Amino acid sequence: MKTIVCKTYEEMSTRAAEIVADVMKANPSCVLGLATGSTPVGMYKKLIDMNRAGEIDFSAVTTVNLDEYYPISPENDQSYRYFMNDNLFNHVNIDKTKTFVPDGTAADPHEACAAYEALVKRVGPADIQVLGIGQNGHIGFNEPDSALEVETHVTGLTESTIKANARFFASIEDVPTQALTMGIGTILSAKKIIILANGAAKAEAVKKMLAGKLDTSCPASMLNLHSDVTVICDEVAMD
Ligand code: GLP
Repeated sequence: MKTIVCKTYEEMSTRAAEIVADVMKANPSCVLGLATGSTPVGMYKKLIDMNRAGEIDFSAVTTVNLDEYYPISPENDQSYRYFMNDNLFNHVNIDKTKTFVPDGTAADPHEACAAYEALVKRVGPADIQVLGIGQNGHIGFNEPDSALEVETHVTGLTESTIKANARFFASIEDVPTQALTMGIGTILSAKKIIILANGAAKAEAVKKMLAGKLDTSCPASMLNLHSDVTVICDEVAMD
Protein backbone atom coordinates (compact mmCIF):
# COMPACT_ATOMS: atom_id res chain seq x y z
CA MET A 1 0.00 0.00 0.00
CA LYS A 2 1.18 3.50 -0.77
CA THR A 3 1.24 5.90 2.20
CA ILE A 4 1.05 9.68 2.30
CA VAL A 5 1.85 11.07 5.74
CA CYS A 6 0.69 14.64 6.26
CA LYS A 7 1.51 17.24 8.90
CA THR A 8 -2.07 18.41 9.36
CA TYR A 9 -5.67 17.33 8.84
CA GLU A 10 -5.98 20.23 6.40
CA GLU A 11 -3.16 18.82 4.26
CA MET A 12 -4.69 15.32 4.38
CA SER A 13 -8.02 16.71 3.20
CA THR A 14 -6.34 18.58 0.33
CA ARG A 15 -4.35 15.54 -0.83
CA ALA A 16 -7.45 13.32 -0.70
CA ALA A 17 -9.58 15.88 -2.56
CA GLU A 18 -6.92 16.23 -5.26
CA ILE A 19 -6.90 12.47 -5.86
CA VAL A 20 -10.71 12.37 -6.12
CA ALA A 21 -10.68 15.46 -8.38
CA ASP A 22 -8.16 13.80 -10.71
CA VAL A 23 -10.48 10.81 -11.10
CA MET A 24 -13.39 13.16 -11.87
CA LYS A 25 -11.37 15.13 -14.43
CA ALA A 26 -10.22 11.95 -16.19
CA ASN A 27 -13.80 10.66 -16.38
CA PRO A 28 -16.62 13.19 -15.81
CA SER A 29 -19.20 10.37 -15.59
CA CYS A 30 -17.19 8.44 -13.02
CA VAL A 31 -18.57 6.50 -10.05
CA LEU A 32 -17.38 7.71 -6.65
CA GLY A 33 -17.54 5.35 -3.68
CA LEU A 34 -18.07 7.59 -0.67
CA ALA A 35 -17.73 7.32 3.10
CA THR A 36 -19.16 9.08 6.13
CA GLY A 37 -17.67 9.74 9.57
CA SER A 38 -15.81 12.82 10.72
CA THR A 39 -12.57 12.02 8.83
CA PRO A 40 -13.65 12.81 5.22
CA VAL A 41 -15.53 16.02 6.13
CA GLY A 42 -12.50 18.22 5.30
CA MET A 43 -12.07 16.44 1.97
CA TYR A 44 -15.73 17.09 1.11
CA LYS A 45 -15.26 20.80 1.96
CA LYS A 46 -12.35 20.97 -0.50
CA LEU A 47 -14.38 19.22 -3.20
CA ILE A 48 -17.21 21.73 -2.67
CA ASP A 49 -14.71 24.61 -3.05
CA MET A 50 -13.28 23.06 -6.23
CA ASN A 51 -16.79 22.62 -7.63
CA ARG A 52 -17.67 26.27 -6.86
CA ALA A 53 -14.40 27.38 -8.50
CA GLY A 54 -15.39 25.46 -11.64
CA GLU A 55 -12.49 23.01 -11.35
CA ILE A 56 -14.64 19.90 -11.03
CA ASP A 57 -18.11 19.02 -12.28
CA PHE A 58 -20.47 16.63 -10.50
CA SER A 59 -23.30 16.80 -13.07
CA ALA A 60 -22.58 13.39 -14.63
CA VAL A 61 -21.17 11.70 -11.51
CA THR A 62 -22.76 8.69 -9.77
CA THR A 63 -22.03 7.95 -6.11
CA VAL A 64 -22.37 4.80 -4.04
CA ASN A 65 -21.96 5.07 -0.29
CA LEU A 66 -20.47 2.37 1.85
CA ASP A 67 -23.05 1.93 4.54
CA GLU A 68 -26.07 3.11 6.51
CA TYR A 69 -27.40 2.51 9.99
CA TYR A 70 -30.44 0.24 10.33
CA PRO A 71 -33.14 1.10 10.98
CA ILE A 72 -32.94 4.83 10.39
CA SER A 73 -34.86 7.34 8.32
CA PRO A 74 -33.09 9.60 5.81
CA GLU A 75 -34.53 12.62 7.67
CA ASN A 76 -32.72 11.61 10.86
CA ASP A 77 -29.73 13.93 11.09
CA GLN A 78 -27.56 10.99 12.15
CA SER A 79 -28.39 8.93 9.07
CA TYR A 80 -25.64 8.61 6.51
CA ARG A 81 -28.03 9.81 3.78
CA TYR A 82 -28.56 13.01 5.75
CA PHE A 83 -24.78 13.30 6.31
CA MET A 84 -24.03 13.02 2.59
CA ASN A 85 -26.70 15.59 1.64
CA ASP A 86 -25.47 17.94 4.34
CA ASN A 87 -21.72 17.55 3.80
CA LEU A 88 -21.57 17.27 0.01
CA PHE A 89 -24.61 16.72 -2.19
CA ASN A 90 -26.54 19.87 -1.17
CA HIS A 91 -23.53 22.04 -2.04
CA VAL A 92 -22.43 20.72 -5.45
CA ASN A 93 -24.03 20.36 -8.90
CA ILE A 94 -24.79 16.66 -8.49
CA ASP A 95 -27.96 14.94 -9.70
CA LYS A 96 -29.24 13.45 -6.41
CA THR A 97 -31.07 10.68 -8.26
CA LYS A 98 -27.62 9.32 -9.08
CA THR A 99 -26.49 9.24 -5.43
CA PHE A 100 -26.98 5.94 -3.65
CA VAL A 101 -26.88 4.99 0.04
CA PRO A 102 -28.15 1.65 1.42
CA ASP A 103 -31.82 1.91 2.45
CA GLY A 104 -32.08 2.28 6.23
CA THR A 105 -35.88 2.18 6.02
CA ALA A 106 -36.24 -1.12 4.11
CA ALA A 107 -38.87 -3.53 5.48
CA ASP A 108 -36.56 -6.42 4.62
CA PRO A 109 -32.94 -5.35 5.22
CA HIS A 110 -31.51 -8.53 3.67
CA GLU A 111 -33.41 -7.88 0.47
CA ALA A 112 -32.22 -4.25 0.55
CA CYS A 113 -28.62 -5.46 0.82
CA ALA A 114 -28.98 -7.84 -2.13
CA ALA A 115 -30.54 -4.99 -4.15
CA TYR A 116 -27.69 -2.65 -3.18
CA GLU A 117 -25.03 -5.20 -4.12
CA ALA A 118 -26.72 -5.59 -7.53
CA LEU A 119 -26.88 -1.81 -7.91
CA VAL A 120 -23.16 -1.37 -7.18
CA LYS A 121 -22.42 -4.05 -9.78
CA ARG A 122 -24.75 -2.38 -12.28
CA VAL A 123 -23.53 1.22 -11.95
CA GLY A 124 -20.01 0.34 -10.82
CA PRO A 125 -17.39 -0.65 -10.16
CA ALA A 126 -16.46 2.55 -8.40
CA ASP A 127 -13.60 4.39 -10.08
CA ILE A 128 -12.42 5.37 -6.62
CA GLN A 129 -13.58 4.30 -3.16
CA VAL A 130 -12.96 6.67 -0.24
CA LEU A 131 -12.65 5.01 3.17
CA GLY A 132 -12.22 6.01 6.78
CA ILE A 133 -11.15 3.49 9.38
CA GLY A 134 -12.79 2.61 12.69
CA GLN A 135 -10.71 2.59 15.87
CA ASN A 136 -11.08 -1.19 15.78
CA GLY A 137 -9.97 -1.41 12.14
CA HIS A 138 -13.44 -1.59 10.60
CA ILE A 139 -14.08 -0.33 7.07
CA GLY A 140 -17.64 0.61 6.18
CA PHE A 141 -19.32 -1.34 8.96
CA ASN A 142 -17.30 -4.52 8.42
CA GLU A 143 -16.49 -5.18 12.05
CA PRO A 144 -13.66 -7.44 13.30
CA ASP A 145 -14.85 -11.05 13.30
CA SER A 146 -13.62 -14.58 12.73
CA ALA A 147 -14.94 -14.40 9.15
CA LEU A 148 -15.73 -11.36 7.01
CA GLU A 149 -18.58 -10.98 4.52
CA VAL A 150 -17.86 -10.56 0.81
CA GLU A 151 -21.03 -8.75 -0.28
CA THR A 152 -23.38 -6.07 1.06
CA HIS A 153 -25.00 -7.39 4.23
CA VAL A 154 -26.78 -6.62 7.49
CA THR A 155 -24.41 -6.45 10.43
CA GLY A 156 -24.55 -5.90 14.17
CA LEU A 157 -22.32 -3.13 15.50
CA THR A 158 -19.71 -3.95 18.12
CA GLU A 159 -19.85 -2.29 21.50
CA SER A 160 -16.69 -0.32 20.71
CA THR A 161 -18.22 1.10 17.50
CA ILE A 162 -21.49 1.98 19.27
CA LYS A 163 -19.42 3.79 21.92
CA ALA A 164 -17.22 5.54 19.34
CA ASN A 165 -20.27 6.71 17.36
CA ALA A 166 -22.33 7.73 20.43
CA ARG A 167 -20.64 11.16 20.30
CA PHE A 168 -22.89 12.05 17.36
CA PHE A 169 -26.16 10.97 19.04
CA ALA A 170 -28.11 12.48 21.96
CA SER A 171 -27.38 9.36 24.03
CA ILE A 172 -25.75 5.96 23.53
CA GLU A 173 -29.21 4.32 23.60
CA ASP A 174 -30.05 6.22 20.41
CA VAL A 175 -27.21 4.62 18.39
CA PRO A 176 -28.69 1.95 16.10
CA THR A 177 -27.22 -1.48 16.86
CA GLN A 178 -27.36 -2.66 13.26
CA ALA A 179 -26.22 -1.41 9.87
CA LEU A 180 -26.24 -2.25 6.17
CA THR A 181 -22.77 -2.23 4.70
CA MET A 182 -20.88 -3.08 1.54
CA GLY A 183 -18.85 -6.24 2.11
CA ILE A 184 -15.09 -6.56 1.78
CA GLY A 185 -15.50 -7.86 -1.79
CA THR A 186 -17.76 -4.94 -2.72
CA ILE A 187 -15.14 -2.50 -1.41
CA LEU A 188 -12.27 -4.30 -3.14
CA SER A 189 -14.13 -4.18 -6.47
CA ALA A 190 -13.33 -0.42 -6.69
CA LYS A 191 -10.61 0.41 -9.21
CA LYS A 192 -8.77 2.65 -6.78
CA ILE A 193 -9.02 3.07 -3.00
CA ILE A 194 -7.95 5.85 -0.65
CA ILE A 195 -8.20 5.39 3.11
CA LEU A 196 -7.97 8.37 5.47
CA ALA A 197 -6.96 8.26 9.13
CA ASN A 198 -6.06 10.97 11.59
CA GLY A 199 -5.48 11.15 15.33
CA ALA A 200 -3.93 8.88 17.93
CA ALA A 201 -7.11 6.81 18.32
CA LYS A 202 -6.49 5.37 14.84
CA ALA A 203 -2.79 4.52 15.28
CA GLU A 204 -3.28 0.92 16.37
CA ALA A 205 -5.73 0.16 13.56
CA VAL A 206 -3.39 1.75 10.99
CA LYS A 207 -0.45 -0.28 12.31
CA LYS A 208 -2.43 -3.54 12.02
CA MET A 209 -3.64 -2.60 8.53
CA LEU A 210 -0.05 -2.05 7.38
CA ALA A 211 1.39 -5.13 9.10
CA GLY A 212 1.22 -7.11 5.86
CA LYS A 213 -1.16 -9.79 7.17
CA LEU A 214 -4.75 -10.54 6.24
CA ASP A 215 -6.16 -10.36 9.74
CA THR A 216 -9.95 -10.57 10.18
CA SER A 217 -9.55 -8.84 13.55
CA CYS A 218 -8.59 -5.78 11.47
CA PRO A 219 -10.91 -5.72 8.43
CA ALA A 220 -8.89 -2.87 6.87
CA SER A 221 -5.98 -5.32 6.49
CA MET A 222 -7.97 -6.94 3.64
CA LEU A 223 -7.05 -3.87 1.58
CA ASN A 224 -3.64 -5.53 1.16
CA LEU A 225 -5.36 -7.65 -1.51
CA HIS A 226 -5.90 -4.58 -3.71
CA SER A 227 -3.20 -3.25 -6.03
CA ASP A 228 -4.09 0.45 -5.86
CA VAL A 229 -4.59 1.61 -2.27
CA THR A 230 -3.29 4.89 -0.86
CA VAL A 231 -3.30 5.51 2.89
CA ILE A 232 -3.53 9.22 3.70
CA CYS A 233 -2.90 9.94 7.35
CA ASP A 234 -1.37 12.36 9.81
CA GLU A 235 1.84 11.70 11.74
CA VAL A 236 0.00 10.71 14.93
CA ALA A 237 -2.09 8.05 13.19
CA MET A 238 1.09 6.67 11.57
CA ASP A 239 2.95 6.55 14.89
C1 GLP B 1 -18.09 4.81 11.09
C2 GLP B 1 -18.31 4.47 9.59
C3 GLP B 1 -17.01 4.26 8.87
C4 GLP B 1 -16.02 5.32 9.31
C5 GLP B 1 -15.66 5.11 10.75
C6 GLP B 1 -14.72 6.16 11.31
O1 GLP B 1 -18.60 3.89 11.97
N1 GLP B 1 -19.17 3.36 9.35
O2 GLP B 1 -17.23 4.28 7.47
O3 GLP B 1 -14.84 5.21 8.55
O4 GLP B 1 -16.77 4.95 11.56
O5 GLP B 1 -15.37 7.33 11.66
P1 GLP B 1 -14.63 8.67 12.00
O6 GLP B 1 -14.09 9.17 10.71
O7 GLP B 1 -15.69 9.57 12.55
O8 GLP B 1 -13.56 8.35 12.97
